[in-house]
Amino acid sequence: MPAHRSHYDMLHSAMTTDTSLLSELSAAAARRRTFAIISHPDAGKTTLTEKLLLYSGLIRTAGMVRGRKGGKATASDWMGMEQERGISITASAMQFPYKQAVINLLDTPGHQDFSEDTYRTLTAADSAIMVIDAAKGVEAQTRKLFAVCRLRRIPVLTLINKMDLPGRPPLDLMTEVEQALNIHASAVNWPIGSGSEFVGIVNRENSHVELFSRTAHGGATKVDVDTMALANLAQSGRVSQEVLEQVRHDLELLEIAGNPFDRELFLQGEVTPVFFASALTNFGIESFLDAFVKLAPSPGARPADAENGSELSIDPIERPFSAYVFKLQANMNPKHRDSTAFLRVCSGRFERDMLVKHHRLGREVRLSRPHSLVAQERSTVEEAFPGDIIGIINPGLFAIGDTISTTGGFNFKPLPQFQPEIFARIRPSDVGKRKPFDKGMWQMAQEGTVQIMHSLHDQEPLVAAVGRLQFDVLQYRLRSEYRVETMLDQLPFTCSAWLDGDPATFKAPSASMIVKDQRDRIVVLFGDQLMKSIARDRNPGHTLRDMG
Ligand code: G4P
Repeated sequence: MPAHRSHYDMLHSAMTTDTSLLSELSAAAARRRTFAIISHPDAGKTTLTEKLLLYSGLIRTAGMVRGRKGGKATASDWMGMEQERGISITASAMQFPYKQAVINLLDTPGHQDFSEDTYRTLTAADSAIMVIDAAKGVEAQTRKLFAVCRLRRIPVLTLINKMDLPGRPPLDLMTEVEQALNIHASAVNWPIGSGSEFVGIVNRENSHVELFSRTAHGGATKVDVDTMALANLAQSGRVSQEVLEQVRHDLELLEIAGNPFDRELFLQGEVTPVFFASALTNFGIESFLDAFVKLAPSPGARPADAENGSELSIDPIERPFSAYVFKLQANMNPKHRDSTAFLRVCSGRFERDMLVKHHRLGREVRLSRPHSLVAQERSTVEEAFPGDIIGIINPGLFAIGDTISTTGGFNFKPLPQFQPEIFARIRPSDVGKRKPFDKGMWQMAQEGTVQIMHSLHDQEPLVAAVGRLQFDVLQYRLRSEYRVETMLDQLPFTCSAWLDGDPATFKAPSASMIVKDQRDRIVVLFGDQLMKSIARDRNPGHTLRDMG
């Protein structure tokens, strides 16, 4: 191994002395904005994604995907656009230029597809946009996803959307964001009017006003903007006296009681800049997207553990190529039985056919079939930079959280496990199939399809997941890859927590169950959140953690 390391070190120093390579890498990384949109279904994620494409100039009219009735956009829905315009799409991320930036928009599936993958994908993001429906405020799925951003200290920008519809007062929404998510909210812009009277926004930094005119095609094309000083708004004749007074009143209140915006605190995840807009009509969208590109960080250093146990920080530019697996997807193409491992590039430059070290397996692997497009055709990625997402055909080599690099010698911090919300007992229908069943279950747990737990009393495995789809995938894959039919009985628990402290002295509430997870940690399963908070109150000497 030392011989190898010195070889790579030499290669690295040769590379680092090549200043043009380094500056190309550094410029490419600086342009990257790798992020996810976190929102509750229907808040406007798809609409905002389309507007990103509209304002990036990649599409001339919006509405192609959103206009599709009776379903939500999936990766394949963007394909028509992709083929024409060179937007690269995987089942995990979409890449395209936006003005000077290169956007890597990570896909965070919601609805029925909500699963641990949704959470894990967030670990690959450098920032997040939280879209909130102005009429509904902070909703359940947003809370869950925000909690992951909090844990990982991912900076979050807040977009309060649908301002063109009757909604709640903006000050109420700011307060709700602060209280529900326990973060400071700082209004970067402020809406002028709401519902049918929503005509513009005030930029609080420079006291400029943007006034919008509705487009003929209801937001399918870019909106016209008139910019003026706030002092001239009254003379514009476009705002009623009542709206004007409301805006003045709110702005004064914000000056006195609002949080100032501090980029450092934003980058640490302590404060979220808040923007008001209407993604459907494009009101306030371009200035929001511009602010996002300006404020959101490019890929930064990532924490890792060196082989000797010390902590390392992997710099995206100074370190040669490294990446980690954040998602595995099985059998996306029925013609190919192998799965795809999605990797986030953390440092250095990736090139096709690269030979890298697989840290967990302690061997070298060639990354020969990287692709960016998931459809009937796969298009090959020739190179990638920090922040980019690549899909690699996975013949069983990769597990969630695996680190690969040209140098070896460290591992990125393990991905957190997320609090499962559905639980079931599972067994093979045919007892004679125990062996392939056990093998399949072990493999699925390795890949992170489900979490496996064991009751403290008997040996029957329990499967746990955050979304029902994970169970369906598990049963399907056991059937198709291991030829095992299974029986699955869902258990009456809806939440769980990792227990720190002696389980023997833990006073468990009724309708709860104590189990062990894959890493032998104690987990308590509860009937509902109320039971969980009762358990917390009853056991002050124990800690119940939501993420492990
Ligand atoms: P999602 O991906 O977060 O689930 O939400 P999506 O963008 O699909 O938006 C959900 C619905 O909300 C869509 O209406 C969309 O048109 C609407 N919407 C999104 N942003 C705004 C906005 O700023 N203002 C208004 N008024 N509506 C908005 P739909 O009726 O479900 O679909 P569609 O038939 O209009 O496509």
